[in-house]
Amino acid sequence: MSERFSFTLLANDGAARRGRLSTPHGLVETPAFMPVGTQATVKAMLPEHVRETGADVVLGNVYHLMLRPGAERVDRLGGLHRFMNWPHTILTDSGGFQVMSLAALRKLDADGVTFKSHIDGSMHRLTPERSIEIQGLLGSDIQMQLDECVRLPASRDEIARGMRLSLDWAERSRTAFEGFGGPEAGRALFGIVQGGDDLALREESATALSAMPFEGYSIGGLAVGEPQQVMFDVTAATTAFLPTEKPRYLMGVGTPDDLVGSVARGVDMFDCVMPTRAGRHGVAYTRFGKLNLKNARHAEQIAPLDPEGPTEISRSYSRAYLHHLIRAGEMLGATLLTWNNIAYYQALMRRLRTAIEEGRFDDEAAVIREGWVRGDV
Ligand code: GUN
Repeated sequence: MSERFSFTLLANDGAARRGRLSTPHGLVETPAFMPVGTQATVKAMLPEHVRETGADVVLGNVYHLMLRPGAERVDRLGGLHRFMNWPHTILTDSGGFQVMSLAALRKLDADGVTFKSHIDGSMHRLTPERSIEIQGLLGSDIQMQLDECVRLPASRDEIARGMRLSLDWAERSRTAFEGFGGPEAGRALFGIVQGGDDLALREESATALSAMPFEGYSIGGLAVGEPQQVMFDVTAATTAFLPTEKPRYLMGVGTPDDLVGSVARGVDMFDCVMPTRAGRHGVAYTRFGKLNLKNARHAEQIAPLDPEGPTEISRSYSRAYLHHLIRAGEMLGATLLTWNNIAYYQALMRRLRTAIEEGRFDDEAAVIREGWVRGDV
C-alpha cells in the first residue's frame, strides 16, 4: 500500500496559504504552478529541465491521451510517469473540458459525452466512470472528476443545469474512484466547483462538494473570457465555502497577475498553457512584464531577457539571438522561451511562498506588480 495523499497547511497570511501536498511521487510545495503536459510532454522541453525550473507536478489530459496513444497502452507500458520519464507528481484533467473545446462533434447527455476525435474522426464515449478508469490506467496521482464547464455568458438556468450535472458526476466519479482502490492506493480525486459567475450557484456547488469526501477541490468554469474582477470575486466566494484543510486548484489560470490575485483569495494550485504557448509564439515573461521577441526593436539588442533572471537562459542569451531564432522559426527559440517562461512562473511561486511564510504577502505582491508596471523594456 502506498502512503496516502495528504495536504499540510504550513502558514497563512490573510487568505493566502502556504502548504505542501504529499503524493506517491513526491512533495508539491504550494502555492504551485503546474506546467501543462497535455500529450505526455511539456511542449519543447525535456522533463529534466522542467524539473530544474522547480516544478513539482505536471498536468496530463485524459482527452488527448485516451485518443493517442490510448490509456490501456500507457498502462501496458508501465504508466504515464515512466512513459514520459517524469518520476514526480502528475495531475490529470478528466477530459470533459477538452471534449467541449477540441472534439469535432460532441453530444452531452446525463450519463456522459459522446464525441468524434479531432485526430482521426473515430467515435468515443466518456462517462464519469470511464474517465476515472483512464486516470487510473495512466497512474495519475491527482485525478479530476468529469464535469461540464458551461461557457459564459449563459442563462442562470443553463449554468445551474451544468453545475447540478457536475454534482451528480462528482458522486459517480467518487464511487468509481473508490472502486479502483481509492485513496488507499495513495491517489487523490478532486471535485470540481462549477456555477459560472453566479455566486449563489457557486455556494451551492462548493457546499455540496465539501460534503463529499474529496482529497481536494478544483474551481472550474473560470478564465473563459470573463473580466479578471469577476474571476476574483467568484474565486473568493467559492474558497469561502471550501474546507480549509483541503487543497484548492483554480483550473486554467492564468497570467502572473491572475496568480498573485488568486493566491490572495486562498488558491493553492494553478495550471495554464500561457507560459508554454506564449514561449512558442515568441513571447517572454520577465520581471518587467511580457516581451515580444518577434518585435524588430530586439533585432540588435545585445542585452539578455533579464540579467538577474531565474535561469541561465534569461541571463545569457541576447534578445537579438532569441529574436533571430523566433523569426527564423528555429525550434531552439521555442525551447529557450518556454524554458524561460516556466522558470519565471516557478520563481514567482517561490517568491509568493516565501512571502506567505514570512507574513509579508501583500508587500511582496505590490513589489511584483510594480515591476510589471515598468512595462515592456
Ligand atoms: N480547465 C479549465 N477549466 C476547466 C473546467 O471547468 N473543468 C475542467 N475539467 N477542466 C478545466
